[in-house]
Amino acid sequence: MSSPVIIKKKIKNFDKEIFVSGDKSISIRWILFASLASGNSKAKNLLISEDVKAAIKTIRKLGIKVDLKNNFCKIYGKGIDGYKYKNNLTLNAENSGTLGRLILGFLINTTKPIKLIGDKSLSTRDFKRISDPLSKFGGIFKLKNKKNLPLTIYSPKNLRPISYLENKGSAQCKSAVIFAGMRTEGTTFIKAKKSRNHTELMCKYLKLPITVKNKKIYDLIKVKKVKEIKPFDYIIPSDISSSAFFIILTSLSKNSKLLIKNVNINPSRVAIISILKKMGAKITFQNQKIYKGEKIADIKVVGGKKLKAINCPTRFNSGAIDEFLIIFILAAKAKGISYFKDLAELDQKESPRLQWGAKILNLMGVKNIVTKDSIKIFGNPDFEVRKKIVIKDYLKDHRVFMTCVVAGLSFGGEWHIHDKDSIKTSFPSFLKIINQLKT
Ligand code: S3P
Repeated sequence: MSSPVIIKKKIKNFDKEIFVSGDKSISIRWILFASLASGNSKAKNLLISEDVKAAIKTIRKLGIKVDLKNNFCKIYGKGIDGYKYKNNLTLNAENSGTLGRLILGFLINTTKPIKLIGDKSLSTRDFKRISDPLSKFGGIFKLKNKKNLPLTIYSPKNLRPISYLENKGSAQCKSAVIFAGMRTEGTTFIKAKKSRNHTELMCKYLKLPITVKNKKIYDLIKVKKVKEIKPFDYIIPSDISSSAFFIILTSLSKNSKLLIKNVNINPSRVAIISILKKMGAKITFQNQKIYKGEKIADIKVVGGKKLKAINCPTRFNSGAIDEFLIIFILAAKAKGISYFKDLAELDQKESPRLQWGAKILNLMGVKNIVTKDSIKIFGNPDFEVRKKIVIKDYLKDHRVFMTCVVAGLSFGGEWHIHDKDSIKTSFPSFLKIINQLKT
């Protein structure tokens, strides 16, 4: 067990330019699409984290060759039917909900039973949300407690297309059904509450037979069977969800400035920026460009602005779903009572994050009222922490760890934060970049 990270001092003001690592959602999707392409695909700046390595191990187990050197990756696709379904195959999604859920879509045509397992945290998470729609295609599932991993998937010979209503704003559910639709003769219809759309953009770039009609709250998606995915190279942009910790650290730090280079600012991912701007933070996008359908920009943050509370519109919930923990920390310093609601999905993450958000605020001494799906945070611009806080037993949720580091550096007090290895799942260089800001 590694020793805890100890923070005893607030960070001094800084003026820096940083690069954060590659986007996790795009890295995993590129690996999955490239694994079924008819030839070799290459990626630069792939996120090298435990979740992404689990995706690489998974496709290797399915018979696909992969070369990985630093953050350069080459995948030797063998075509749309190139997976080798061996007897007694067990795949391990480790901590990754995205990998575990998305891969099931592509496995819908497996000719042999496949067992899917995960780590302690993933084994507590809901997989019924995937097995339910995929069963309608004809997939046959056995799940522990009818909803958890380990699960077994196998498939009859004939799959049938489905009509599916995705009502949670979950990109993982939507993507798993798109992938299963790509393997199924006929047209699959999806009505999906808006959520991150990297899968759809990759399908569009690859000219796959998938159409999307954007409506206000829902998107209407039609998916037809895919005959071929052409190999494709990708330079992965930086991850806005990893950038979020630095955006908020800067916003909470007087006289600090930060430029984060080459970040994916897909409109379905930037709700954090809209929320922060409404609260008074100063954030701008520079050098905007489009890369393979994805928007990219440098993000400039000027810190120390006066922050005010927000009654957070629920339309931001899906687009900021990975950022709420760290947004709660910012709300502690905003004048007034912030209110975040309709957030039951937050407790479906690597740890029950709504409850952990409340717990961290309680430990800090910030008044809050939490329910099953909402939290009110009583902010105070002059608030400081003046005690010792120990953070442990949080199911090694990477975002709990990083949130607490930012809280410690912003509010003071003495923080002992355990399980620093948790950052390996999404952002192994997080502490290194924190140190760059300190020097
Ligand atoms: C992800 C979707 C989100 C997000 C997760 C990554 C994706 O999950 O929380 O970190 O890459 O599709 P849900 O689809 O469960 O909301």
